[in-house]
Amino acid sequence: MKHERVCVIGGGGFVGHHLVSRLVAEGRRVRVPTRRRQRILDLTVLPTVEVVEADVHDPTALRALLDGMDAAVNLVGILHGTPAEFTRAHVELPQKLVAACAQAGVGRLLHMSALGAEAGSRSVYQRTKAQGEAAVLQEGARAGLAVTAFRPSVIFGPGDSFLRLFAGLMRLAPVLPLAGAWARFQPVYVRDVARAFALALDDADTHGEVYALCGPRVYTLQELVQLTARTLGLKRWVIPLGRNASYAFARLMELKPGRKLMTRDNYYAMLTDNVCPQGFPARFGAPTALEAVIDYLRCTGPHCGYELYRAQARR
Ligand SMILES: NC(=O)c1ccc[n+]([C@@H]2O[C@H](COP(=O)([O-])OP(=O)(O)OC[C@H]3O[C@@H](n4cnc5c(N)ncnc54)[C@H](OP(=O)(O)O)[C@@H]3O)[C@@H](O)[C@H]2O)c1
Repeated sequence: MKHERVCVIGGGGFVGHHLVSRLVAEGRRVRVPTRRRQRILDLTVLPTVEVVEADVHDPTALRALLDGMDAAVNLVGILHGTPAEFTRAHVELPQKLVAACAQAGVGRLLHMSALGAEAGSRSVYQRTKAQGEAAVLQEGARAGLAVTAFRPSVIFGPGDSFLRLFAGLMRLAPVLPLAGAWARFQPVYVRDVARAFALALDDADTHGEVYALCGPRVYTLQELVQLTARTLGLKRWVIPLGRNASYAFARLMELKPGRKLMTRDNYYAMLTDNVCPQGFPARFGAPTALEAVIDYLRCTGPHCGYELYRAQARR
């Protein structure tokens, strides 16, 4: 069955922009709820996108958003917050979405989890991602929904906040003390992630499955930062911090008001490798190498230094 009308919750974010564009290019109609329409006006110019300001945590509003839809996608996620905020975004919202889908007669649900999601993790991010994923799969199955979940490693591509953050920091300073330099990632390209979601949407063989999504290569965080510096043509001194210094750095960053560069929760997550030995699932095509597309980080205009400020302001 072709799912023509899709509600993408969290569709205004980084992954959401790429997924929504892909779904539109495939001729689907897409509804994108957001807390602030003004922030994602760029999506409103796409021909079959409807951007709706809504509180997705309100069950009545969520149910209304699903009216007339064939499928739902949940991309909502946060990296920083209190345990209650993590639980609300990663566990309660997916549960409400399953209930709303069942009420609205929407039978297909794609759910974004994360690689490293583990019930026993010390990181609240990873624990709540695991709880949300389990809830969606179990409660979704009980409600008769066809659910597929995805667990990507860190995602790169135009608009990312991971490599662009380091790019912004290195444009500002010649020296970068790097917490978690040892952490291993297998970064995956955002357009490959969007393709996996889009292909899974109408593929009944993916029902009930959980797919890890990784790129072709494993890198330490230090290697990723050095690759970023080389791409930008910057000679930078990257100082790898050990575990104790990284923990102290994260603690210090938590005291900073506004958007956090790093928290102890991020530090705990980085203690476990974020890699998938099985690589990118062949059913979704071949993964793109970071080196093949990393030029998106290059920026030659006077606005280049704004990257960091933009990321910090969540714009
Ligand atoms: N980026 C990565 O490297 C990566 C890696 C693994 C997994 N993931 C997961 O992939 C998903 C998408 O990631 P992303 O990088 O695209 O994130 P993002 O750019 O931060 O976008 C997240 C979206 O979620 C919505 N959102 C955030 N907090 C919310 C809240 N409290 N209530 C309601 N909506 C909220 C935002 O909607 P509005 O602001 O429009 O309201 C935003 O559009 C997340 O679940 C993330 O955990 C990402």
